Amino acid sequence: MDLPERVTLIEVGPRDGLQNEKNLIPAKNKIEFISLLKNAGFQEMELTSFVSPKWVPQMQDASVIIDRCLDDLRNFVLAPNQKGIDLAVESGVKHIAVFVGVSDTFNKKNINKSTEESMNELRPLIQDLKRRGFFVRACISTSFYCPFEGKIDEQDVLKICLDFEEMGVDELSVADTIGMANPSECFELFSLLKHHLRGTTLLTAHFHDTRGMALANIFASLQAGIDRFDTSAGGLGGCPFAPGASGNVASEDVVHMLSQMGISTGIHLDKLLEAAAYISPLLSKPVSSKQFQLLKNVPQP
Ligand code: HMG
Ligand code: MG
Repeated sequence: MDLPERVTLIEVGPRDGLQNEKNLIPAKNKIEFISLLKNAGFQEMELTSFVSPKWVPQMQDASVIIDRCLDDLRNFVLAPNQKGIDLAVESGVKHIAVFVGVSDTFNKKNINKSTEESMNELRPLIQDLKRRGFFVRACISTSFYCPFEGKIDEQDVLKICLDFEEMGVDELSVADTIGMANPSECFELFSLLKHHLRGTTLLTAHFHDTRGMALANIFASLQAGIDRFDTSAGGLGGCPFAPGASGNVASEDVVHMLSQMGISTGIHLDKLLEAAAYISPLLSKPVSSKQFQLLKNVPQP
């Protein structure tokens, strides 16, 4: 099999992982969680998001988190609109992630705009960010299935990716928001995107594990040439406005699978599990990743 020797994992636990958590986690604990994750070796991470505190109360401390966690690594902050991008620029971050849904209904529920309205708002903002030297990542939700509209046409995903590429984004993160995709669909979509996108645009896959398909989907995406994956420590996560979305694929389960396959990630599994163990007692639900459960319940050889 023609698989990459090395894969980059983008840790999304502090943002996607925590955004839907019912317990309000104090900023100091988020900052320690981020520090433990960096200590495990992550070079790229979504720290937080600038969104309405009325819509997503857990992210209301975004400025504090950024103030304490910025360093030379790729620290992403999500922003869906002009206000979010203005706040992100003021905060001093250099890596901004915009987000939009392929499905109009989902985008309205998530950002209160149609997909086209969001793209039209983002176009000049992204072009301006690029002129000023920012790194821009575009997260594309509901790239396989929408909780309201069902199956998404892969040509619609391709069109949004090409539009973002034309605006100058550095990275596209293509997401299975509600964890409904299967490995064949992942292979097909990522092969199509690889074929049509410039080789210089980073292409990342973002899987939620609602139906236990995420590791299989990663394996299929590897075969389509993808070597970047968004993952979340402890398998935390989910979008509050996507009914049925459960946690992201767990970083520790992905690190374990890839290392068993001889693919390096640069992440230390034991330190990553320390980060998951640190955040676990603060959460309203138990951490269910396989590696975390093994650590707790099975004596290690
Ligand atoms: P709206 O109500 O239409 O916004 O919401 P508005 O422009 O009318 O403003 C309403 C209030 O929000 C105003 O404050 C604005 O200042 C404020 P007020 O005057 O009432 O005090 N506001 C903001 N505050 C902070 N940051 C901002 C911002 N914008 C306006 N950026 C809005 C529109 C986009 C704000 C709202 O819909 C929202 O916050 N949505 C958040 C959605 C979200 O965070 N979803 C989860 C992240 S996406 C995701 O998880 C998917 C992903 O993981 C990939 C995948 O798995 O699919 C990336
Ligand atoms: Mg997500």
